[in-house]
Amino acid sequence: MKNKEKDILMEIAKRRGIIYPSFEIYGGLRGFYDYGPIGVRIKQNIEKIIREYYVIDENCFEVECPTLSPEIVWVASGHVENFADKLTECKKCGEPYRADHLLEEHLKESCDHLSLSEIHEKILELKIRCPKCKGELEKPYDYNLMFKTYVGPGKYKVSAYLRPETAQTTYLAFKRLWEVGRKKLPLGVLQIGHSFRNEISPRQGMIRLREFTQAEIQFFVDPENKKAPRFHEVSELKAEIITKDDERINLTIGEAHEENIIENQLIAYFLGKSLLLFEEIGIDRNRLKLRQHKDEERAFYSKDTWDIEFHSENFGRIELVGISDRTDYDLKQHMHFSNESMEVSYNGRRFVPHVIEVAYGVDRPLYCVLESCFTIENGRTYFRFPERVAPYIAAVFPLVNKDGLREKAIEIYQKLKDERLFVLYDDSGSIGRRYARVDEIGVPFAITIDYDTMKDGTVTIRYRDTREQDRITLDGLIKKLKQFK
Ligand code: GAP
Repeated sequence: MKNKEKDILMEIAKRRGIIYPSFEIYGGLRGFYDYGPIGVRIKQNIEKIIREYYVIDENCFEVECPTLSPEIVWVASGHVENFADKLTECKKCGEPYRADHLLEEHLKESCDHLSLSEIHEKILELKIRCPKCKGELEKPYDYNLMFKTYVGPGKYKVSAYLRPETAQTTYLAFKRLWEVGRKKLPLGVLQIGHSFRNEISPRQGMIRLREFTQAEIQFFVDPENKKAPRFHEVSELKAEIITKDDERINLTIGEAHEENIIENQLIAYFLGKSLLLFEEIGIDRNRLKLRQHKDEERAFYSKDTWDIEFHSENFGRIELVGISDRTDYDLKQHMHFSNESMEVSYNGRRFVPHVIEVAYGVDRPLYCVLESCFTIENGRTYFRFPERVAPYIAAVFPLVNKDGLREKAIEIYQKLKDERLFVLYDDSGSIGRRYARVDEIGVPFAITIDYDTMKDGTVTIRYRDTREQDRITLDGLIKKLKQFK
């Protein structure tokens, strides 16, 4: 995607109500985006598919917890002490930068794993200055990413934080979920909701947000059984893999597991499942890579982490999901700080379950869907969204606004709505303009009501990607559209 195409994509996203900067009339604030009417529909469709993959396929529960939690939760989880990025500021103009990212731009390689002093040394060695004013940079230091606040008034107020991940809030109720799930492992729990990180310098549009949506699944498992019973469903999938030693290999998920490259079978399984999910929502599979975290880069709670990254022409590599073996770290921490046991009796043994976490963002995959589906062809711009992700499944138009065609179109539009289908109606401007408008928001089918409709009840269906047209009966149309619900 050339720079110009990126600008066209973002211009359409704003103009057509997909996404746009929040608080725009007050000049905006970096790291915050609104979803407009079209974007909300796309986002909900993506979340629906995530639910199908986990609540239906993997028998997960779904929970919803507060976004604000008392300080003790984040002390116990280790986030108060460890959840930090490396910040450097310009000595002259005060502009803040993520020190590892600044270095990465110069070295053109990942610097996530370097320590504060290593980054500082390299900044000095390479004579890196403030990109804005060329001023000298301060020594980098750890900057905690959580937003702190207080709950309650006066002397009763307690310190609290906005959650930087949904995961902890799911762990807190583990004992209740264990009871609700009738004391069986594995126990999978999905939570979709907002998380907050006071990112240092979010300059990458909706890729690095300060408030964003996560869809995180916590699989509580027996530490002696990290096997995936349905591994065969993903074992033949091919993937480009980057190991923690920077080895790049092309293997199937099955081969990568057999050769101990992805040691943990559950991690390998969820990597495969995520590739399928990303493809289903419309992300270009050929631009996805599996990348293992280096030892120095891995989060403090994880024994092994793998990401799936999308290679964006606009933003470079974008992490879409992190899959980690969090062991019993989190449950044990909460057990220690709350004095509540997190142990279970299972298969004749007593232990604290381990957690395999599948942590999706929703906003980043949504951006990658936009980038993957955006098409400019013969002067026409449209999104090739999969039918189930498109904001509306069809748009209904009368050919002309006379001779009863308009009334007939409204009647058919209402019939489709009665089938609980998300459909649009448009009778303004020429038919060509209407096609262009719905193409721009990726509506897969355009239905035109014409003089033949008045005679035999059939309608014209136009396919977004090929622009071919067919005639179809109303019953046939309803059946066709309902298969994408
Ligand atoms: N509970 C584990 C966890 O939060 P993470 O890798 O920090 O792991 C998971 O986050 C996913 O959340 C990422 O893969 C990414 O898709 C999304 N995410 C993280 N930070 C984000 C941000 N600042 N803006 C948008 N999405 C973000």
